[in-house]
Amino acid sequence: MNKLIVANWKMNLDCAESLKLGGDYLKLFKKSPNQVVVCPSFLPLAQLAANFKNSLLSLGAQDAFWTLKGAYTGEISAASLRSLACTHVILGHSERRQYLAESCRMINAKAQSALDAGLTPIICVGEDAAKRKAGRSASFITGQVQRALKGLKLAKNSSLVIAYEPIWAIGTGKVSKATDTVVIHQLIRRVATKILGANTKIKVIYGGSVDLDNAASLLAESEIDGFLIGGASLSASNFYKIANIK
Ligand code: PGA
Repeated sequence: MNKLIVANWKMNLDCAESLKLGGDYLKLFKKSPNQVVVCPSFLPLAQLAANFKNSLLSLGAQDAFWTLKGAYTGEISAASLRSLACTHVILGHSERRQYLAESCRMINAKAQSALDAGLTPIICVGEDAAKRKAGRSASFITGQVQRALKGLKLAKNSSLVIAYEPIWAIGTGKVSKATDTVVIHQLIRRVATKILGANTKIKVIYGGSVDLDNAASLLAESEIDGFLIGGASLSASNFYKIANIK
């Protein structure tokens, strides 16, 4: 099927717990029809990179700074992540927009930096409950995508992922209906293609309360290129089952 299934462990696990869960993933992931990327916190990345070598599991990070090197205390560059064998990086997650005041401008600069380092950015967009209720989802998401992608320069073999993550669906148990999700994904693809050109490899994945009960019906939609999974990725067996939906 070749969808992209991304685990976002957020800040839920310490190093030892991350290595344990990574080990549980490794035992299960002997095969998968889909591409699987695991995004732990920064600290266990180096060890997980070694543990995941020659496995089906790829690694990603949950953020990266907008410059590749320099005097930026406490930040981590996309170049360092690439040197640890990361292939992907999540950028602009709504939790970072909310708690760290990340702006679309920052996310745009981070995306360019990730691309320059050879990482595939996974750029998160999505409306909150109030905007949805007011019927403003489409215009809001259009603006977020336009600002995140503005002026990006991609190399020939670069690819980019946009994760549609409605804020009202994240960690709430409320999932966006497949039919609604498809409409938003079509919009995101249209806006992104207009900015980046038809030849750019763009995937649009969904995140927000994906679990074993709702995953198959969402993944059956050709417009949904995969998932960004939080809570359900903390169980190796549930995540494995979702990632192996054919
Ligand atoms: P959730 O989180 O699957 O726990 O809703 C998804 C995300 O925030 O990436």
